[in-house]
Order: sequence, then C-alpha cells, then structure tokens
Amino acid sequence: QDKRESLYVLSQWAGKFFKEQLWNTDIGNSIGLSYFKERGYREDIIKKFDLGYSPDVWTALVEEAKKSGFQEGYLTEIGLAIERDDKSLYDRFRGRVIFPIHNLTGRIIGFGGRTLKTEKSVPKYVNSPESDIYRKSDVLYGLSFAKKAILDHDTCYLVEGYADVISMHQAGVENVVSSSGTSLTTGQIKLISRFTKNVIILYDGDAAGIKASLRGTDMLLEEGLNVKVLLFPDGNDPDSYVQTFGSAAFKEYVATNQQDFIFYKTNILLKDANNDPIKRAEVIHEVVESIALIPDEIKVSVFIRQCSSLLDIEERVLLSELNKIRVNKA
Ligand code: CTP
Ligand code: MN
Ligand code: MN
Ligand code: MN
Ligand code: MN
Repeated sequence: QDKRESLYVLSQWAGKFFKEQLWNTDIGNSIGLSYFKERGYREDIIKKFDLGYSPDVWTALVEEAKKSGFQEGYLTEIGLAIERDDKSLYDRFRGRVIFPIHNLTGRIIGFGGRTLKTEKSVPKYVNSPESDIYRKSDVLYGLSFAKKAILDHDTCYLVEGYADVISMHQAGVENVVSSSGTSLTTGQIKLISRFTKNVIILYDGDAAGIKASLRGTDMLLEEGLNVKVLLFPDGNDPDSYVQTFGSAAFKEYVATNQQDFIFYKTNILLKDANNDPIKRAEVIHEVVESIALIPDEIKVSVFIRQCSSLLDIEERVLLSELNKIRVNKA
C-alpha cells in the first residue's frame, strides 16, 4: 500500500514536471505548446487534460526526480525511466508531447507520449507500461472527466484515441472515453456499465476501425449493453472530424449517422456480399451470431424480428439458426 502510494506521488510529480516543461520552458513552448495549438486545442483544454512535453534529451526527468528525492526503483517500476545494462537510467519519454492517463478518481497513473516526427519508423505513441497502479485492461482514458456527463446523458461515446477524447470535450461532448488503442476489454466494459448501459462506438473510419468496431460490438452485447455504432468518412476519426468541420457539424454528423448495431453490422457485411447468395447466407449467420450473445431474451426477440425484415428472411429460419448457434456454444 505504501508502495502504491509512492507510485501515485511519483506519477503526480511527473505530470507536473511535463506540464512545467510545456508551459515554462522555451523549447516546450515553441515545440510542445505550439504543436497542441496547431492541432486546434484551446489553452483551457490543454490545462484541463494536464497535457505536457518531455524534452528531447536522455535524462531530463531522471535527473530532476533524483534531485527531488525519488528512488530509482520506483522510476523504473512505473516506467518513467528505463534501465541500461550498466544499471544507469534514461527517460522513456523524450521529445514527445505528453497525455497523462488518470484513474477514475482523477489521479495520474500513466502517460502516453506522442512523437512530433513524421517518419514511419518512429512509433507514433509510447505508453507507460503496466504497474501496480496502472492496469491497462481496467482503465479508460478520459473517464474521470467524463463520468458526470455519462450519467447525465445516460450514454457513453467510445473512441479509439487520446486526441479524440480531447477534441470532443472541446466541442462540448464530454461523455466520451477511449480504450487507447488496446482492444476493448471486459474490465473496461464493466467500468462503463457502472455509469450507463448505452454505448455509441465512434471508431476511426479505416479498415482497422471497422474491424475493431465489430469486435467491440460483440463484447458490449455480451455484457448486456445497448450498442450503437457510427463510422466516420474514410480516413477521419472524431478528432480530425471536429477539427476539420467544427463542433456543430460534428454533432450533426453523430446525431444523424449513428446506427443500431444490427443495421450497422448488416450494412457493413452486405456491402461485401454483392448479392452473392452464399455470401448473403453467411451475413445472416454472422448477424444472428451477434444477436445470440445478448443475455436478455426480450431484446433477442426484438432483434430477430428486425433482422427478419432487414434481410427479408422468415423469423422461424432465424430462430432455428439462433438455436443452432446456442447449442454449439453450450
Ligand atoms: N496507439 C498506441 N500506440 C501506437 C498507435 C496508437 O498506443 N503506436 C493508441 C493511442 O492511444 C492512440 C490510439 O491508439 O490514441 C488510436 O491510434 P491512432 O488512431 O493511430 O492515433 P490517434 O489517436 O488518431 O492519434 P493522432 O490523431 O495523434 O495521430
Ligand atoms: Mn486508428
Ligand atoms: Mn485515430
Ligand atoms: Mn487522430
Ligand atoms: Mn460463423
């Protein structure tokens, strides 16, 4: 317990260090702060999310942390420093803008660092590793800032990235969390369902986003949540859409394009089927597979009926397919 508390204190200290670099150094200002401003982030939003900057040298944070009396063991344990073969330490985050990750109560438990370089060889994000205070499968980025709005709206938007959460807040849509690249986990879904049973997936408009949205849909359905999905136009994500078209257009797009999962999944799969009867049969099978995950029998029968009219198949055929799937799983 003592150790966990020390890790919290160190994380909070590091968050303050990165913020000071961003706001109070010339380099942080000219590189980090101007990067955020070029992305369209307002100062109040940059402050609200505790965004920061890590200088592009090997031991900026390590030296300061030692001066402030933090033990080396904690620095490596929480992943702010990495140990070389000769046991010397160097900073994990160098020359990156910093997105602190907060837990449910708002304490900093980890960091994501985005590169400012455009070379493909450099990883876009470097993230804190797991630690005693950061279990990735049980954390949703943005939840501490979103929880009140999620309760108020009884709905939660689920996005892929840090930038998506921040731009949506700036646009006035605060009931939004991100699974931060890692594919959605059961722990994260249980966390959402403490606040609402209604989730709207807003993943990136690319092949990876579509794939992740279908997988996320099934996981959410299985946990008994209601799922809607919205796909952004090719190459856009919520952040780029807000920043390109503005808040009003974003809200309008989301309101008019969100679809119940069953329409979303059917439309996506039918696009590839091209009226080929065998592929069309496989689409029906896959949609029924998703329905079979839903724990509530009343919802199941509602969706079977919808599916029947959507795909022009008799309900009794769908029901026998549903039973086959259930028998196979039992
Ligand atoms: N991610 C990561 N490591 C990577 C790439 C992505 O951890 N190398 C995580 C980050 O949390 C990121 C999310 O996955 O926010 C979504 O990835 P992506 O869509 O590629 O990045 P964006 O969030 O859109 O980042 P940006 O707008 O800054 O380019
Ligand atoms: Mn993406
Ligand atoms: Mn993205
Ligand atoms: Mn993006
Ligand atoms: Mn199958």
